[in-house]
Amino acid sequence: MSRVLVAGATGYLGRHVVAELSRRGHRVRAIVRHRSRAEAPGACSAPPLSGSVDEWAVGDVTDASFTRDIADGVDEVISALGVTRQKADPWEIDNRANLAVLDSSLRFAVRSFTYVGVLHGDRCPARLTRAKTTFAQTLTASPMSERIINPTGYFSDMLDVLALARRGLVPLLRPHGRINPIHGADLARFCVDRMEGSDAGSWDVGGPQSLTWRDVALTAFEAAGRHPRILHVPERIAAPALRAVGLFSPRTADLGEFAVWGMVHDAIAPATGTRRLADFFAERTG
Ligand SMILES: NC(=O)c1ccc[n+]([C@@H]2O[C@H](COP(=O)([O-])OP(=O)(O)OC[C@H]3O[C@@H](n4cnc5c(N)ncnc54)[C@H](OP(=O)(O)O)[C@@H]3O)[C@@H](O)[C@H]2O)c1
Repeated sequence: MSRVLVAGATGYLGRHVVAELSRRGHRVRAIVRHRSRAEAPGACSAPPLSGSVDEWAVGDVTDASFTRDIADGVDEVISALGVTRQKADPWEIDNRANLAVLDSSLRFAVRSFTYVGVLHGDRCPARLTRAKTTFAQTLTASPMSERIINPTGYFSDMLDVLALARRGLVPLLRPHGRINPIHGADLARFCVDRMEGSDAGSWDVGGPQSLTWRDVALTAFEAAGRHPRILHVPERIAAPALRAVGLFSPRTADLGEFAVWGMVHDAIAPATGTRRLADFFAERTG
């Protein structure tokens, strides 16, 4: 049994990580912004943290006085901390806030630091992925025993396709591009396995089904009970469209660049887990 600090504990993945740690008998210290929100069920049926957390660390990860001693008394750290849909600069959170947690972990001689990065993060030009990859490089170069997990897309992100299918039309940039998306619970198990193992290193990981984006869309239409209508959008319009969005919202354009890059490049990683996308969609529509 270890004492584990979880950063990003309230997110889709973080909630599954906390549940998995608790199930295995580890003691969890969870970093959260609001305890009441953390104790309620999360989005996409991610579990509530109530009953799984032994110690609450309520505060702001960008506040140095909060993060300074955050790792005091823990054996391991798992970080699923990062900006997805939150309105924040990824360099502030994915990079600098994770660095602050790492600094504290080094000061308190934590045994290992498991960090959730992103598949192909070193190739995607988006600011978001550069912030993550730069942190992963710093972690690797540090004296900390690192476990860097680079997942494909999460089932939670596939819900955008389900939402479009419900409205009756799914536009796709590259229908035959492939991805093996992963359920949060399957990925959490993989992360905790790596934490419990003795090896440092870096792992790419995805779910058990290799799907085309067209398969994802058809699965969504099936769950939504709608006749499939897929619009193949030419890749060449993505760049000018993102530039136009960037004039009004650089942050949205960067998120868009990340999403577009993920669609036009295959995202296939070694498979783990058992959960299937059709069941995940069915739970939301049935
Ligand atoms: N979603 C995907 O498909 C995908 C794929 C590959 C890698 N990843 C990476 O995996 C990690 C977890 O993803 P996820 O989908 O679980 O993300 P998520 O649901 O958005 O959770 C992110 C976590 O980071 C915290 N966070 C974000 N911005 C913050 C801010 N400004 N201040 C304080 N805390 C902040 C969130 O706190 P709040 O709950 O309080 O907002 C939450 O605990 C991320 O680093 C992401 O980049 C995601």
